[in-house]
Amino acid sequence: MSGIIKLGVVGDPIDHSLSPKIHKLFAERANIEIEYEAFNVVAANLNSFIKNFFDDGGRGLNVTLPHKIDCLNSVDEISPLVKKIGAANTLKRLEGSNQIFADSTDGAGLINGLLEARITPIKSDILIIGAGGAAQSIIHALQNSCPRVIAIANRTKGKVKPVVSRFPPLDHDDLFPNTQVVDIETYLNEWDYQGFHTVINATSAREDSNFIWCELLPIESATNFYDLSYSNLEEITPFIRWARQQGNSNTGKKISDGFGMLIHQAALSFEIWTGIKPDTTITKAELFDG
Ligand code: ATR
Repeated sequence: MSGIIKLGVVGDPIDHSLSPKIHKLFAERANIEIEYEAFNVVAANLNSFIKNFFDDGGRGLNVTLPHKIDCLNSVDEISPLVKKIGAANTLKRLEGSNQIFADSTDGAGLINGLLEARITPIKSDILIIGAGGAAQSIIHALQNSCPRVIAIANRTKGKVKPVVSRFPPLDHDDLFPNTQVVDIETYLNEWDYQGFHTVINATSAREDSNFIWCELLPIESATNFYDLSYSNLEEITPFIRWARQQGNSNTGKKISDGFGMLIHQAALSFEIWTGIKPDTTITKAELFDG
């Protein structure tokens, strides 16, 4: 590969994005030259920004909040996955043309993050807390990883039904039939209730908020807790703090924040742009120090 590969991430806000550092590490280890810049762009300028970025020789662009849906107005082709979930996080200029292609690595990044945390979705009962954009971006990938059921709980109950109806049952085969997405009430009342194995936090609750409503959730049997959010080295997320307090002992509990998912979704984007699977052994210390 010759010449510097021009990459970037666009969002609003974008100041705290770790993507430039992550991709720089990927490139160093893969021994290729990239330039990866973070761009703060408001919604009104998104379309022209994307066009200009690729016209100026850009090879690939990550898209983050709040542009994951609107960026689709600026592309020429979308992957079958993007067609299904209606959002993208990775844009690429197709080789030999000026066409822009959109894909999503969020869901696959989550599955890799879960597996790295030794959490296996197959045949399990999964609870997702939250029903916003973050929750919706992971449901399809989770359904495809063959859990028995995915239940959704949200502080505002009325928001769950529309989300559930966007994800009809997936029939895999006789071995892993009918992965259904249901609201938590349906799960508790109509399913052969086995208790949750894994609880995933997809809320945007931050340090100053609390999870008090979550105390009412039936998670006594859960041993796996995964947070889509992540913290720096010194802190822990509110969900991780809450998860540590659940149950009687820590024995066997697997509790993880979304740092692994962050690295894995970035790695999949890097591969889409360069064809290289990067070394993903990146620690928080490497990204948060200095
Ligand atoms: P995102 O795209 O990050 O998912 P969003 O679409 O605004 O953002 O959704 C935020 C989600 O976090 C919602 O499910 C929200 O619950 P409500 O629908 O009840 O607002 C949830 N959320 C935010 N703060 C929360 C808190 N302190 N406790 C529980 N849920 C919270």
